[in-house]
Amino acid sequence: MSQKVTVSVIKADIGSVVGHSRPHPSMMEKCREVLAEGRACGLLQDFYVTRVGDDINLLMSHYKGENCSDIHKLAWDAFSEATKLAKKMKLYAAGQDILCDAFSGNIKGAGPGTAEIEFEERGSEPMLFFMADKTEPSAYSLPLSRVFLDPFTTTGLVIDPRAKKGFDVEIHDVVDSKKVVMSSPDETYDILSLLGDTTRYAIKRIESRVGLGTACVVSTDKLNITAGKYVGKDDPVCICRAQSGLPAVGEYLQPYMNTMLVAGWMRGSHYGAFYPCAVEDSDPTYFDGPPRICCIGFQLNEGRFQGLEPMDSAPGDHTPIDFFAGQVWDEVRTESVKACKMIRGHGPFMPAILSPDEMEYTTRPAVLQQLTPRFQDL
Ligand code: 13P
Ligand code: 13P
Ligand code: MG
Ligand code: MG
Repeated sequence: MSQKVTVSVIKADIGSVVGHSRPHPSMMEKCREVLAEGRACGLLQDFYVTRVGDDINLLMSHYKGENCSDIHKLAWDAFSEATKLAKKMKLYAAGQDILCDAFSGNIKGAGPGTAEIEFEERGSEPMLFFMADKTEPSAYSLPLSRVFLDPFTTTGLVIDPRAKKGFDVEIHDVVDSKKVVMSSPDETYDILSLLGDTTRYAIKRIESRVGLGTACVVSTDKLNITAGKYVGKDDPVCICRAQSGLPAVGEYLQPYMNTMLVAGWMRGSHYGAFYPCAVEDSDPTYFDGPPRICCIGFQLNEGRFQGLEPMDSAPGDHTPIDFFAGQVWDEVRTESVKACKMIRGHGPFMPAILSPDEMEYTTRPAVLQQLTPRFQDL
């Protein structure tokens, strides 16, 4: 099929059972119902509803292109309907990411996060969906840098003639609301010079330099709408296309063997170590964390998701590969808990908490105001 396919992931936290833990199963079911209607009326080609921690992730495939108002509205309707259930059950933070009363054409800026990728479906199209909870979009910058810029992570950069040509990296400056496209390998050190500042810069998108299209895209929405003031702990998703000139599935996964500190844990105000795990194991269990990272995979087949389910199963009814489920990740999970225990030992002191202008919660301005008359010159 020469028509370009689009895979959209739209995600939101619209309430969860017991604090910020897990959406109620009826909310997930409601989302499935609404997306099934979208499929029945021909809007969607296929869909899959999943979650990480308290965030519901709607995976949708279609031929309507990125930023399609009808697709965004469908996701909005799913979240709005599920929010009604969350409110009825008095779940925590019910409707949290529904920031507007009514849908106004595009879901960006309305609360939910989006990552969308439009491309020509190849002869075989392996796709990965990374989903994180209790962290921010720039959490993907380190692992994606390893995947696309580091030949000691991605041997394909050395031995695959197409991957070797490098990639174009679109970086967002979330403070000044600007973007820049830089090329690897030529500008690798300059790219890292920006991305190292995770408070200001984040990878949005990475493109093949040999015409294979977009390799990966990250949801960065909250950062955009709050441009000028950094407050977004977005619990971001990252969609990746793999193999044949792009990083292999295993190369995308490789960086998560490292223990990485990310911002956004507990009250969006702490650093914690990424904890790679199965979707089923993604309920926050320790200090509202540790920040979970999940990764599921599908093959795309004529715009439909193909997992382990029978080929003729109903749209939406899928069994993806759950990459962080296995024992091989036990060691990094143990390391993550160790790192979290270490940093938690600092309590409310930096570097356990974020820098002052990044804190989602702070009492400091009020405290300082109260103390103004008592402050004396040294
Ligand atoms: P409350 O301020 O509602 O207790 O929430 C804290 C928290 O869990 C951060 O989202
Ligand atoms: P979420 O962003 O996952 O809702 O978590 C809020 C929080 O700060 C929990 O401590
Ligand atoms: Mg929450
Ligand atoms: Mg969350």
